[in-house]
Amino acid sequence: MSDRTSLIVGNWKMHRDHLEAIQLLQRLAYHLSEEDTDEQEVVVCPPFTALRSLQTLIQSDRMAVALGAQDCHPEIEGAYTGDVSVPMLARLDVRYVVVGHSERRLFHEEDDALVARKARAALSGELRAIVCVGEGEQARESGRAEEVVLAQLRGSLDGVEPREDADLVIAYEPVWAIGTGRTATPTDAQDMAVAIRTALAERYGSERAADVRILYGGSVKPANIRSLMTLADVDGVLVGGASLSAEDFALIVGHRRAI
Ligand code: 13P
Repeated sequence: MSDRTSLIVGNWKMHRDHLEAIQLLQRLAYHLSEEDTDEQEVVVCPPFTALRSLQTLIQSDRMAVALGAQDCHPEIEGAYTGDVSVPMLARLDVRYVVVGHSERRLFHEEDDALVARKARAALSGELRAIVCVGEGEQARESGRAEEVVLAQLRGSLDGVEPREDADLVIAYEPVWAIGTGRTATPTDAQDMAVAIRTALAERYGSERAADVRILYGGSVKPANIRSLMTLADVDGVLVGGASLSAEDFALIVGHRRAI
């Protein structure tokens, strides 16, 4: 057994303005118990426009929830209209940043090289990077899922050197499972997590690889959280749709309690 701290992350995507975000986080905090946040980390990733409001709320109410961002720019400043840098996020007490989400890869044509630059920027700026990888439906059906995911992983970690125990997180999100109600089977999720950890061990050594947390993402719901969290190499989840309901996300976070 490892002593990796479980990590439950809600990715709100492009949902909730800053007022709605405040309400959602307040409701979530109401449903969480101390034991839910004692031994695991809970993170919410709202749109950029809500980060400041949630920072203030978390501080004033001393909530045991951390902030994450959904993306960052690889440079620390410059003429990059519309972008947000790692130092700007860090100033808002953002602790995590998601890079290489499949929606960024698809709709913004982000490739592995750019994802790696973003991950490097995050780690240099003292943020923890959640690097997303995941195969499409065709790759899964043709038996090439592992090959595709490991190639993405190698490219997305080019030049990325984790420095402390918990600063690198890998999220395995099969694209066909995102927002579809279909989830990877526990066996497939565990097998991919092992393949990822083996690749990390080749790259960073087994000790460092054992520290990296690997999350599963793709239609995570209260009904399937337990089967995912019992997997030896899955250290948490990246939740989309279900994180927009305070009640559902609280059930996911509280998976160890009787539901
Ligand atoms: P869903 O949980 O809505 O499938 O989204 C997963 C995801 O993309 C999280 O980043």
